[in-house]
Amino acid sequence: MADEHKHEHKGTHEHGHDHNDHDHSHSHEDAHAHGGAHVHEDTHAHDHEHGHSHDHGDDHKSRFHDPAHAAEFDQRGMSDMRSHLTTKLIEALTLKGDELILDLATGTGRVARPLAQQIKNGRIVGVDEAMAMLDVGHQHKEPIAHYVQSAGEADKLPFKSGTFDRAFVSFSLHHFGNPAGVVSEVLRVLKNGGRFVVLDPIIEEAKDSVDIALEAKINQVFRRTHGGGFRFHTASSIQRLLTKAGYRVPRTSVLSYPFNQEGMDGLPTGRHWLEAALELEKEAPELAERMKKNYFTWHSHGDHAHVKGSFSYALITGVKPA
Ligand SMILES: C[S@@+](CC[C@H](N)C(=O)[O-])C[C@H]1O[C@@H](n2cnc3c(N)ncnc32)[C@H](O)[C@@H]1O
Repeated sequence: MADEHKHEHKGTHEHGHDHNDHDHSHSHEDAHAHGGAHVHEDTHAHDHEHGHSHDHGDDHKSRFHDPAHAAEFDQRGMSDMRSHLTTKLIEALTLKGDELILDLATGTGRVARPLAQQIKNGRIVGVDEAMAMLDVGHQHKEPIAHYVQSAGEADKLPFKSGTFDRAFVSFSLHHFGNPAGVVSEVLRVLKNGGRFVVLDPIIEEAKDSVDIALEAKINQVFRRTHGGGFRFHTASSIQRLLTKAGYRVPRTSVLSYPFNQEGMDGLPTGRHWLEAALELEKEAPELAERMKKNYFTWHSHGDHAHVKGSFSYALITGVKPA
């Protein structure tokens, strides 16, 4: 395959590596030029298959099980950045339009909604363990065509082996307490030659003990809200998860989005990042300096903080060997 080398300097930074085909692309694109993946559906076939529910008791339940949080999550809608990432994810699925697609941890269907636009004869099956999220998606004012919901856990999928042509997981891998079990389970339910696309926020690869301590602190802050299973991955740890499970990994892209703004509004999980930064400033100045170097700077004034830096997301494709 011919070498591809795109280099445009705008807003977003993307680093793509096509490992098997030795195709190397490196492009810089404008996140804001790709907004508008939000679609309106008038006609719909909206089945609601709540196969089975899992009750683990309240101590295991994440905030996604809370109807008020589920509604608030959905109302946040799609920032330009999220729309751009969703467009990239849909491209990575390489669809003809007749595929059976698993939307793992579908939530309220924020990705399934624009994805449904690409589907002619196929179907999207959205699985989530949180009935509250499924319910918000089901009652949504913009129903999703070609979409069915199923309650289930990501590492115990209620489907037969070799069912799906495609699978994807968006903004959820870091919530899974058993990510290795999940990617193996997806491999099981994929057809041979089927594709699994993972989109997830990532942290920097730790290069020394300060990075390792910073990573521990970031995960600790997020676990207060999201529970003990929460863990940020790196691009290479996601690649390793997939290859260890038995996928071929033909493509890995890292998309970085710069920001320079008042407060963390519009930045996914931004509030917790700022919480971690402010705690580090008080408790561990060396880690705060590293946070500034690796992720973003912050300048507090009153209740507000000006933040400047960038967050990165991995878009990684795994293929089940034929
Ligand atoms: C941040 S939301 C993302 C939702 C959707 N994919 C999106 O991009 O908008 C994370 C979702 O993962 C779901 N989830 C977390 N752990 C899960 C598990 N083990 N099995 C199934 N769903 C899970 C949560 O209930 C929640 O709906």
